Amino acid sequence: MTNQDGFETLAIHAGQEPDPVTGAVVLPIYQVSTYKQDGVGGLRGGYEYSRSANPTRTALEQCLAALEGAPRALAFASGMAAEDCLLRTVCSPGDHVLVPDDAYGGTYRLFARVFSGWGLTHDVVPISHVAAVREQLAGRKITVVWAETPTNPLLGIADIRALAEAAHEAGALLVVDNTFASPYLQQPLALGADVVVHSTTKYLGGHSDVVGGALVVADPELAERLAFTQNATGGVAGPFDSWLTLRGVKTLAARMDRHCRNAMRVAQMLAEHPAVSEVLYPGLPSHPGHKTAQEQMRAFGGMVSFRLLAGEEAAVRACGRTRLFTLGESLGGVESLIEHPARMTHASVTGSPLEVPGDLIRLSVGIEDCDDLLDDLRQALGDG
Ligand SMILES: Cc1ncc(COP(=O)(O)O)c(C=O)c1O
Repeated sequence: MTNQDGFETLAIHAGQEPDPVTGAVVLPIYQVSTYKQDGVGGLRGGYEYSRSANPTRTALEQCLAALEGAPRALAFASGMAAEDCLLRTVCSPGDHVLVPDDAYGGTYRLFARVFSGWGLTHDVVPISHVAAVREQLAGRKITVVWAETPTNPLLGIADIRALAEAAHEAGALLVVDNTFASPYLQQPLALGADVVVHSTTKYLGGHSDVVGGALVVADPELAERLAFTQNATGGVAGPFDSWLTLRGVKTLAARMDRHCRNAMRVAQMLAEHPAVSEVLYPGLPSHPGHKTAQEQMRAFGGMVSFRLLAGEEAAVRACGRTRLFTLGESLGGVESLIEHPARMTHASVTGSPLEVPGDLIRLSVGIEDCDDLLDDLRQALGDG
């Protein structure tokens, strides 16, 4: 592969030459823990033990690096394992970080309930407002500015380029969780971010059959430090999980195009629906982050959130009434999912500055026939 190859080409081929022994077109699952050495220390291709490196994981890491336009990526057992490795590596006890006012609940929980005990303190900032972030950065030492864009579950948009400038002027690293967009829609490193985080469980895997995470970094020295922590603490992606993720990645572009098209139609239908008080989708011109999203994303993604006029109980009822949208946590698979963030994915942030409204419903719009999806939502909202 060359750097000139297009995204779809890299997604299918990067890190995955046909097997040199058999010619197998699909990379094998190297389901192995250890490797024969040719004499003590005589490693073949650098492999000695699969916590340190495994060929199937290496292929996934090379592919993810290529897709984010980075020299190096590291694959983990989950998105949370990736985040944990990153924070242990770039922060020390006593450091202070800025975290977004809307984010995956588990990410906030990691700061508020795990790293707080380690002496890492944080402030919550409105990540869509660069001026407010600059104010928080002014005059004190901040190690990391953490951003998600689009955010989970309120679909807020952060201006990555402006945040990177602000963070760097203050000597902080900018970390962007790119899970909702995927590298097909958005490449934060090219906009100045230092580290990209993924829950590969979501769009990268794409089929709701594997849990995984990744860190992608522009700086090879930082990558080396992360690799050290990863090996020292052990939250690595297993070979079969790496293989499933690689298989998903091959169709990322085709799937994302369809997710985006279906999500736009769903958002437009909901925006006209009498039961809906607000639709949160960056593809709608009424969304406050629409212009920024247009500038930094190829399209607007497959996630749509909306609020119901009739309140929380109505939202809970609607979540239980769909036929095609499966009631469940997670997102980014080919099948459509519906959930109630306040009682499900974001229950852990109840009572925190990241608490989400009870009348909110989040959709992961899949790639089914969109007319069927629209009919399903209409009937769940009581007019089918
Ligand atoms: C935006 C985002 N980041 C990180 C994570 C954590 O990833 P994982 O569940 O793979 O540990 C999630 C999970 O839902 C997420 O939505």
